[in-house]
Amino acid sequence: MIDPDIFLDFLKERRSIRAFQDKTLSEREIKMILEAGRWSPSASNRQPWNFIVIKNKEILTKIARNAFYGKFIKEAPVAIAIIGKIKTSQKWFISDTSLVSMNMMLMAWTLGIGTCWIGAMNREKVKKLLDLGENDYLLTVLPLGYIRGDIPVPTSRKPLNKIVKEL
Ligand SMILES: Cc1cc2nc3c(=O)[nH]c(=O)nc-3n(C[C@H](O)[C@H](O)[C@H](O)COP(=O)(O)O)c2cc1C
Repeated sequence: MIDPDIFLDFLKERRSIRAFQDKTLSEREIKMILEAGRWSPSASNRQPWNFIVIKNKEILTKIARNAFYGKFIKEAPVAIAIIGKIKTSQKWFISDTSLVSMNMMLMAWTLGIGTCWIGAMNREKVKKLLDLGENDYLLTVLPLGYIRGDIPVPTSRKPLNKIVKEL
């Protein structure tokens, strides 16, 4: 078990990172991030997902062209595409793969590796680049890399008294 105060601080310190060093990640680091995704919870433990590890610069550059607010993905030495298998869990594939993305982002942060959820992209075009089919839902492509420059200043959060009610 992890100390809860340390864990909460860790959650607060994680930031979306949009600038990466030109330095490759080790296979161990990539494997740990994939493992963190693999151990995510899923509805009825169906695990309706596949992951694609993308190191090919040409493909990363093409994805960047189709990402409206994610051009920085071409800087990353590696990215992981998270694919939901629609037929495997028709109701929950988005929830399940979203949990995968969080696990992967948190694992990356423990390793000092930055990442950012990329949502704003032309999914159909990126799906084609990744050779995905009808049963594949492209949730996101997470760029992964050592952080270039300063860690961004903390983003704000709504206070608990504005978002929590007690009954
Ligand atoms: C569903 C989702 C979609 C997002 N899409 C993008 C995106 O397309 N480009 C981007 O730069 N950041 C994207 N983000 C990152 C958010 O902007 C970021 O998480 C938020 O501003 C809070 O900052 P933080 O992650 O540093 O705490 C996305 C985040 C989520 C959860």
